[in-house]
Amino acid sequence: MEFRISDIIRKKRDGFALTKEEIEFFVRGCVDGSVPDYQAVALLMAIYFKGMESRETADLTLAIAHSGDMIDLSLIEGIKVDKHSTGGVGDKTTLVVAPVVAACGLRIAKMSGRGLGHTGGTVDKLESIPSMRTTLERNEFFDIVNRIGLCVIGQSENLAPADKKLYALRDVTATVDSIPLIAASIMGKKIAAGSDVILLDVKVGSGAFMKTVEQAEKLAEEMVSIGESVGLKTAALLTNMDEPLGNAIGNSLEVIEAVNTLKGAGPEDFTRLCIAVCANMLFLGGRGSLQECENMASDALYNGSALMKFIEMIRAQGGDTQVIYDTNKFKKAKYFVNITANESGYISKIETEKCGNAAVLLGAGRAEKDDAINYAAGIVLEQKIGDFVNRGDVIATMYADDIALFEPASKLLSSAVLITEDCPQMKNIVLGRIG
Ligand code: URA
Repeated sequence: MEFRISDIIRKKRDGFALTKEEIEFFVRGCVDGSVPDYQAVALLMAIYFKGMESRETADLTLAIAHSGDMIDLSLIEGIKVDKHSTGGVGDKTTLVVAPVVAACGLRIAKMSGRGLGHTGGTVDKLESIPSMRTTLERNEFFDIVNRIGLCVIGQSENLAPADKKLYALRDVTATVDSIPLIAASIMGKKIAAGSDVILLDVKVGSGAFMKTVEQAEKLAEEMVSIGESVGLKTAALLTNMDEPLGNAIGNSLEVIEAVNTLKGAGPEDFTRLCIAVCANMLFLGGRGSLQECENMASDALYNGSALMKFIEMIRAQGGDTQVIYDTNKFKKAKYFVNITANESGYISKIETEKCGNAAVLLGAGRAEKDDAINYAAGIVLEQKIGDFVNRGDVIATMYADDIALFEPASKLLSSAVLITEDCPQMKNIVLGRIG
């Protein structure tokens, strides 16, 4: 069916619901280039302001999922589980969760993204391991999962190409933080990626797209209902992103923290989040009650079996496992500079987005899509919200290869931290569960 894009834009601008056919026409046109960027952006902005009904969001999701390859994981035996985080700073959860869940008997055939802007990406983190391959032929990917239970690679070019196009436009037109657009973007990719089970980690707080629990609940409900409607077992956790997750921000620094966590010595908030995510994935995958799954996840984390799975995966993907056995072997940044407390008191705020942007300034991330990354650069927070510091105590250490990068990064990072006389109210890492 043929439509005029300007009619579709007008309809949404005036607050009416779009039909399935109109949505499919728009998405097809974005991918084949017949819808110019200026019209695509006009519709995205209209959706941003007028929203979408749940039925429209589901139609947009399916149109995005079917815009490219639909991965068929049926050649992999067993239950395939996946997870997705809505994006955060210091979020290295996949590096721990994937081996724990695989060690507990479920399959992880995961396609992850790269970092852009202030948030990092799992693929960049994995590539900080020397020789690690994250682009594999489909058969090798399946074979590794069948042999060892897990494999994490980058998204293939033709997975949900409509999302690639729309996300790039949203990123530069202030239309990312819209519930229907985020729900369709995430679930479109996840449906195309072919797993049986999906656990969504919906971040809430200053460093997340969703600033309040109410918004996050709405996004989570929308995504869970879309997943269930296509037969995917789906649930969501709402988790705190009022400060970076764990202590490390930056690629190899985060891998080191993930390895420490797999050795049972990770930061408390990060370890608790990983166990909650694993427990929910195992529960959705039918491995027992939530309590039994939590015990199973915790055992795999503390008895070394998950670490062994991680090492097996790195070996299968060509990575150098020596850096995992001894993380001191990771290439180090040439210089480090500390940020210290200029007064005594409690750390009551650590603005997450500023921390992520400071890490980008140090070379740990990309401001533009094709920028190179320094895998050793980044930040290690020595303090977290609620900690008491004396004047002069180290709050964070920054790592970079170029001394000139420290001044702007240090200004930004210092402005991210607030010290007060009173101890702030502490929040749990897991704030709620939907599904
Ligand atoms: N992550 C995604 O994959 N898409 C969004 O729109 C937001 C976060």
